[in-house]
Amino acid sequence: ADLSAANTLRLPCIAARYAEPATLGALRQILGEASRQQWPITLLGGGSNVLLPPALNGLALRPRLRQLWLTREGDEVLVHVGAGVNWHALVQDVAARGLWGIENLALIPGDCGAAPVQNIGAYGVELSDSLCAVQVMELNTGKVRWLNQADCAFGYRDSVFKRELSGRVVITRLVLRLSRQPTPKLHYGDLAARLSKTPTPMDVARAVSAIRQEKLPDPDLLANAGSFFKNPLVPDQQAHALLSRYPAMPNFPQGSGQTKLAAGWLIDQCGLKGVQEGAFGVHDRQALVLVHQGGGNREGLLHFAERIVEQVRERFGVVLEPEPRIIQP
Ligand code: EPU
Repeated sequence: ADLSAANTLRLPCIAARYAEPATLGALRQILGEASRQQWPITLLGGGSNVLLPPALNGLALRPRLRQLWLTREGDEVLVHVGAGVNWHALVQDVAARGLWGIENLALIPGDCGAAPVQNIGAYGVELSDSLCAVQVMELNTGKVRWLNQADCAFGYRDSVFKRELSGRVVITRLVLRLSRQPTPKLHYGDLAARLSKTPTPMDVARAVSAIRQEKLPDPDLLANAGSFFKNPLVPDQQAHALLSRYPAMPNFPQGSGQTKLAAGWLIDQCGLKGVQEGAFGVHDRQALVLVHQGGGNREGLLHFAERIVEQVRERFGVVLEPEPRIIQP
């Protein structure tokens, strides 16, 4: 299967085998086959946060379970959603029902099943703020089990699915806890300035979408995978030293002895915004996003990224790490 159009960076990738099981039964069956044939398994969602290699051995798998139902618990509503539902479609669906909790996560590309892996976050909200349970199927046994929110070990762009459970389970369903009570979170950037004092969840989702459209390239028009680097955490002491040299540097003390810096700002300060090199470039409106003009491959992109890391390290002594998942062949 040719996955070149199935990843938003449009990196060339041919997978030996590809399947999109839409039920737990179909998923269990294909996992059984993979284990009998000893095919290595690569899990994919919407392909919006992965760096794919030119060739994938074994089986590439995109779960397509698409059930969606709601149960009521007083002022709260539990949303049960299959891994194959498009994330933004879910945000719009629940916002239209007047439910609060994930409206700030509007327009994030990808499938619901991929959302917990990196604990998607934007505009002051993370998925972990409303996620209460994750259903997974074990790759080896086909057994279904549930993880609660603590089991998921969520962090900034991090979870148990990137660590202990990496390569061991496939996410099949999420349960989110949303609220009918207004809980707008408008403290990030200029979100509040764009909204009335009593916005609906749909108003917030629309405002977030507008901000994203102003800054982030539409992957349908210009290949990219959103932020290419994580915002780095540095010791407070290092942040203070940098601030004395660069007083305007954005910085977000985490209260844990560490301060989060803005990778986009660091790259921007190195004069790299809008820089093009061969097939790849730094987006001209958001330096944290690398774009692919076509004709490149993963190796070329990693090489380009390495040069950015090097320049930021030389200037600021901060080492940036890639944010998308690097898929091994
Ligand atoms: N900045 C610059 N120049 C740039 C980009 C940013 O100076 O080219 C400065 C901004 O002015 C601002 C600060 O850096 O002071 C932070 O920028 P912004 O608010 O745009 O957010 P970000 O840190 O660049 C993060 C997430 C995004 C998320 C936004 C909004 C990461 C790696 N990225 O970006 O997530 O949408 O915040 O919450 O945490 C993604 O993960 O793919 C993604 C797009």
